[in-house]
Amino acid sequence: MLPTSPTKSSPVKLYDFHPPVADFRSAVLRGLRQPQKVLSPQFLYDKRGSELFDAICQLPEYYLTRTEMQILRNNAGAIATALNHRVLVELGSGSSQKIRILLGAASQVTTYVGVDISRQHLQEACAALMADFEGLEAIAVCADYTQPLPIAAISELHNRPTIGFFPGSSIGNLEPAEVIAFLKTVAVLGDLIVGVDLKKSAAILEPAYDDAQGVSAAFALNVLVRINRELGANFDLSQFEYRACYNETAGRIEMAIASLCDQTVRLGDVEISFKAGETLRTEHSYKYTVEEFQLLAMEAGFQPVQVWMDDQQLFSLHHLKQM
Ligand code: AVI
Repeated sequence: MLPTSPTKSSPVKLYDFHPPVADFRSAVLRGLRQPQKVLSPQFLYDKRGSELFDAICQLPEYYLTRTEMQILRNNAGAIATALNHRVLVELGSGSSQKIRILLGAASQVTTYVGVDISRQHLQEACAALMADFEGLEAIAVCADYTQPLPIAAISELHNRPTIGFFPGSSIGNLEPAEVIAFLKTVAVLGDLIVGVDLKKSAAILEPAYDDAQGVSAAFALNVLVRINRELGANFDLSQFEYRACYNETAGRIEMAIASLCDQTVRLGDVEISFKAGETLRTEHSYKYTVEEFQLLAMEAGFQPVQVWMDDQQLFSLHHLKQM
């Protein structure tokens, strides 16, 4: 695949590996036909979903973003040293706010590669970085970062040392077995800096995922709006409700959309039935102790080098090296 070169309307070089719509349809149908209906969290991030997720990051209850930003600010010098002169590859870069703290401290980094499934959001974020950091080359790679990165097709990554940055505790949206597989996949990038949310009480966790303003609910329910629009479905949003609860035994927040009645939804020519109270899982968000996460990283062949945390030990940022 050839990248689109920078133009006047978009100054950012884009590599587009976005999966085709047919993949979206078959993945949605596969998920809706399972005994526990499920959708991949990556489907939450269309343009509106990305905007809603940015709004979640600003919520008073959602401590993760501001805490991780504070950890980055407090340790920017040490983290910048760890980055060295490498090409900085951010996985799931979203609106790229956190990277600004690192780029501000690491002027030696001249190439940034943002990888995200939300194409327009990503291009805008990369354009803003190029405008704000003089001399920085910001490359947009529209792709599902949980899949192997097509490094061979990205010329900026050829024969250059790289470091992966995976903030936000997005790693928590993978199942633990998937974490190991994912870390093995991204090992091609060399070292990693990974944000991981820490275990804590349900009293803090549950409001973070089911806030008073209903932004988390709107974020989850937006996936049904997307399926209606892109796959010709007829989900009636007034007949579904968002739920989030902490499963302490599994160490994860479980997010789902529950059907409020017995109903049948059409996706084009396919019918899917829901029983009253039946749930459609949208996300798991795992929480780890530092030791639990380090064990997973070691199983994937990484050596924990350093952990940075905030004073209240809400969140952790791990520097992992290849063993
Ligand atoms: C992207 N990810 C780390 C978020 C989380 O905290 O698990 C997704 C999210 N979903 C609802 N609120 C936040």
